[in-house]
Amino acid sequence: MGWLGSELMFPVSCLILVWVAGSGSVKVLHQPTCFSDYYSTSTCEWKMARPTNCSAELRLSYQLNFTNSESHTCVAENRESAVCVCDMPMDVVFADIYQLDLWAGKQLLWSGSFMPGEHVQNL
Ligand SMILES: *[C@@H]1O[C@H](CO)[C@@H](O)[C@H](O)[C@H]1NC(C)=O
Ligand SMILES: *[C@@H]1O[C@H](CO)[C@@H](O)[C@H](O)[C@H]1NC(C)=O
Repeated sequence: MGWLGSELMFPVSCLILVWVAGSGSVKVLHQPTCFSDYYSTSTCEWKMARPTNCSAELRLSYQLNFTNSESHTCVAENRESAVCVCDMPMDVVFADIYQLDLWAGKQLLWSGSFMPGEHVQNL
């Protein structure tokens, strides 16, 4: 009986390790695309590699790209199980550039820049 037990234990513990490693990796499948309503809000939307609770796991920080400008944080919301959206209140000034950073806890998943005045910006 002893040998049977250890033979069975090995693959099971392997599976558990793979599962733990897999569930711990948070990845972006489609990078954020952002657009502005030209008035008061810009919205970014992106897709994660697996179903994600956006508000619990992710934060999008945005900051006008001037030195000393304040950094804001947007709490993402689910639109689908793996699709997150974030609405960022901001004044639209044509030449403004925002630095965007997408965080999962302390892990930086993506960063890019966004020019609300250009409506749609792809990195
Ligand atoms: C996401 O997590 C928050 C906080 O933990 C919880 O209140 C909310 O119900 C969760 N949403 C989904 C879709 O699971
Ligand atoms: C602002 O953006 C420009 C163009 O992307 C970049 O060259 C510059 O270093 C940025 N400045 C800051 C303070 O982030």
